[in-house]
Amino acid sequence: MAAENDPLATLDAHPEAARLRSRKLKDGVATLIVDATGLGTADRAAVEENFRDAALAIEGVSEARIAMTASQPARTLIAVGAGKGGVGKSTVATNLAIAISRTGKKVGLVDADVYGPSQPTLLGTNAKPEAEDDRLIPVEAHGLKFLSLGQLVSPGHALAWRGPMATGALAKLIEADWGDAEVLVVDLPPGTGDVQLSLIQKSRPDGAVIVSTPQDLSLIDATRAIDLFRKMDVPVLGIVENMAGYICPHCGEGSDPFGSGGAEAAAETIGVPFLGRLPLSPAIRSASDAGMPPAAGAPQDADAFTRLAAAVLAELEKVRR
Ligand SMILES: Nc1ncnc2c1ncn2[C@@H]1O[C@H](COP(=O)(O)OP(=O)(O)O)[C@@H](O)[C@H]1O
Ligand SMILES: [Mg+2]
Repeated sequence: MAAENDPLATLDAHPEAARLRSRKLKDGVATLIVDATGLGTADRAAVEENFRDAALAIEGVSEARIAMTASQPARTLIAVGAGKGGVGKSTVATNLAIAISRTGKKVGLVDADVYGPSQPTLLGTNAKPEAEDDRLIPVEAHGLKFLSLGQLVSPGHALAWRGPMATGALAKLIEADWGDAEVLVVDLPPGTGDVQLSLIQKSRPDGAVIVSTPQDLSLIDATRAIDLFRKMDVPVLGIVENMAGYICPHCGEGSDPFGSGGAEAAAETIGVPFLGRLPLSPAIRSASDAGMPPAAGAPQDADAFTRLAAAVLAELEKVRR
């Protein structure tokens, strides 16, 4: 089709032209169908406005109707895993979610840890989710939407579900009504068993963050977790070293109870990015136990998580290319 026959052909040179699914001009009314896949709420509105302006600037166009496809923003799923429990996986997942939400994104948090769901404690609420048409509606806390297996049973009841029961319950959490959430952070059960496998298969994370302490044993487990994600074609965004270095709250002296730098060295050996270090800090533990996530607190506690969120988002950008 020759350009001179179709005034709208100039739109093919628009910076977002790849999103243009169809264009039509009739009686001065331009109708454009624009693919909104992957756009957040703000970007979506900006792209729509942009195409409207571009169409109206064309001679012979007196009205522009822009139809944006894909009513929901594409959701990015970040899995937080660890080879074993007790390394601070849940603490990292919660505070990473909060730090990402503080960059302006809408974030949901899924506590999928069958062995020890802890998000209700970390976020300081025992509210139960409602259900509508058999879909769970997440609870809101600290600017996040979240759902936890811990909400589905009474507090203090150990779950340790196995097999189909666990996978069924986890699917319900992931397929809940997450509304406008652009990012879902999933706190996976520790280890590399069947539950993890089917969850990864089902939810197809866009990337995985591996939490490890600097200790050798924990790193061997972390390597196993990385292998699992790689086998499943989930990009490993990197390793976070948690509980690295202790600053004594009394004397201010630094020490390394679990060693230091181990995770960074391991990341290099394995060939995955190193996402940063979170200090072993009594403030992190006490704030977490009190349901006051440090990422939402004072800068001296929040900063490490803000940096972690930036590193994770940067790695996500890279694997998307
Ligand atoms: N960086 C840290 N500094 C101090 N305590 C921490 C830190 N990270 C985690 N903890 C504490 O360690 C314990 C285990 O953390 P948790 O996130 O529940 O681990 P996991 O989910 O891997 O089992 C919790 O009491 C938590 O408050
Ligand atoms: Mg946990």
